[in-house]
Amino acid sequence: MWLYIVLGLIALALYVFKSCKYDYWEKKGIPIASGNEWFFGHFRPLILVKKHMNEVIDDIYKEFPNAPMVGYYVMGVPGLMVKDLDMIKTILVSEFSSFNSNGFEIDKNADRLASAHPFVLKGDEWKSARAQVTPSLSLVKLKGYLPSVLKVGDEMVKYVKNNCIGATEVDVQDLARMYGTDVIGSAIYGIENNTFENGDSLVSYITREIRFERDVSDNILLFFQRCPVIRSFYPARFSSKKLQDVVVTVTRKVIQERIASGEKRNDLIQLLLIQKESDTQGVFTDEYMSAQVFTIIGDLYDSASNFITIILAVLSRHPVIQEKLRSEIKEVKSRNNGIFSVEDIEGAKYLEMVFNETFRLFSFFIPRQCNNDCTIPVPGSKPITITKGTQIAIPACSIHKDPKYYPDPEKFDPERFTEEEVAKRPKFTYMPFGEGPKKCIGNRIVTLHIKAAIIKILDNFKLTPSSKTKYPFEIDPRHTFTIRPKGDVWVTFEPIQ
Ligand SMILES: *[C@@H]1O[C@H](CO)[C@@H](O)[C@H](O)[C@H]1NC(C)=O
Ligand SMILES: *[C@@H]1O[C@H](CO)[C@@H](O)[C@H](O)[C@H]1NC(C)=O
Repeated sequence: MWLYIVLGLIALALYVFKSCKYDYWEKKGIPIASGNEWFFGHFRPLILVKKHMNEVIDDIYKEFPNAPMVGYYVMGVPGLMVKDLDMIKTILVSEFSSFNSNGFEIDKNADRLASAHPFVLKGDEWKSARAQVTPSLSLVKLKGYLPSVLKVGDEMVKYVKNNCIGATEVDVQDLARMYGTDVIGSAIYGIENNTFENGDSLVSYITREIRFERDVSDNILLFFQRCPVIRSFYPARFSSKKLQDVVVTVTRKVIQERIASGEKRNDLIQLLLIQKESDTQGVFTDEYMSAQVFTIIGDLYDSASNFITIILAVLSRHPVIQEKLRSEIKEVKSRNNGIFSVEDIEGAKYLEMVFNETFRLFSFFIPRQCNNDCTIPVPGSKPITITKGTQIAIPACSIHKDPKYYPDPEKFDPERFTEEEVAKRPKFTYMPFGEGPKKCIGNRIVTLHIKAAIIKILDNFKLTPSSKTKYPFEIDPRHTFTIRPKGDVWVTFEPIQ
C-alpha cells in the first residue's frame, strides 16, 4: 500500500514539474490572473475547498475589466477565461467542433453512471447519448409526466399543512429533496411511494446515496485525471460504488416487474423499454438503462432541489414579488378550473421572469476544453491560436453579475426580464444552461419540475423569512460543481385560507 502511495507521489511530482508550463500565457502576451501558486496554479482555494468555483472564477473575471480574455493555470494546465461576448459566441457556437468537451475525464469502469452523462461525454459518444436522452424530454413526454409531478406537489402541500400550526419554519432543502425523490419515483420509475407520508421509499435508497460534497482529495484527483499514472491508480468518478449499485439494482427491479406485469405507464422506464424493442445491437442492457435513468436523476434531484431551496428563500425576502407571482398563479389556475398544463406553466410570464432572475444570480460557469488547435478572432487585436488541451472557462456566473450588463447586479429584480429589457442587452449575456449545441437539454424538464413545486407552494402558503437562516446565503464550497446554499435553509410557511 505504502509503496503505491510513494510511487504515486513521485509520479505526481514528476508530472507536475514536467507540465508546469508556467510561462505559457506570458509568451502569448495574454494577461494572467494573479494568485498563481506553485503546484495548484490559480485554483488553490477551490481545490482546498476554501472557496466555491464561482468565487474563484469571479476573482479572475474582475481582475482585468477590459481584457477580452485572461489566462490562468490549473495544476500545470493552461486555462483561458474568455470574457468577450463575440469570442464566447465563437467558442460555444461557430467553432463548437474544436471545443466540444467539458474537459472532465470520468473513468467508464470506475463510474458507469456519470461517465454516460451527456455533460461528460464528447464527440460521437456525446451525440449518440444526447440522441438517446432527447425523446424522454420531448413535449409529449413532459405532458405525460406533468400530472404525476403535480400530484407529488399536492402531497408536499398536504405534508406541510399537516405540520404547520399557524406560521411554521420549514427546512426547505429537506422539503425539496423529498419532492425530488417522489418526482423521480413517479416520472422515471412509475412508482408512487409517498415519501411525505411514509418517510422512506424505494427511490430514497438512491437519493440517500447522492452526495455532491467533495473534499480536497476528490478535487486533486479530479484535476489530475489527465495524468495517466494517476488515472490508472485512481480512476475518476463522481458517483460512489454504492450509488452505482443501488441505481442498477432499483432500475433492474423496476424493469423486471414492468416486463412481468405487462403494465404500461407514462414514465422513463417505459420509454426505454420501447427503445429497447427496436434495439438490435444489444445496447439497452440493464446497466445502460440505469445510466440513462441516472442522468435525469442527478439533474432532478440535486440541481433542482437546490434551486427550489434558493427560490423559496429569495421569495420569502421579497414579499411584493411573491404576491405578484401568486396573483399570476391564481389567475392561471382559475382560467383552467384548477388544472395546470405544460403550456400554462411554460407560458406564465411573470413566473418565467422570476425564474430567469433567480438563475441569473445562481448560475455556474461553462467549462470547455479545446480538442483541436483553433485560431479565433480577438476584437481589437490579432487572432489567437488556442492549442489542444487548453481548458476554457466561459464565466457565465460573472457575466450575469457584471454591472455593465446588469446594473446593481446583486439586486433581485425580475423586471430585468421584460421583453424590452432583454432586447436591450447584447446576446450571450445570459447563459444559465450553457449555449450552443452542447446547451443543457435537461433544462426544460428540470425547470418544469421546479416550477410545479413553486406553483403548489405559493398557491397554498405565504412565505416569510426565518431568523434561522442568514441571507444572502453563502454558497457551499464543498459543492464544487453545483450551487447549494451553505447549511440548512429555513423559510416560514403560513397556510393561506
Ligand atoms: C413502494 O411502493 C410499492 C408499490 O408500488 C410497494 O410494493 C413498496 O412496498 C413501497 N415501498 C415503500 C418503501 O414504501
Ligand atoms: C428565460 O431564460 C430562458 C433560458 O433559460 C430563455 O429561453 C427565455 O427566453 C428567458 N425569458 C425571458 C423573458 O428572458
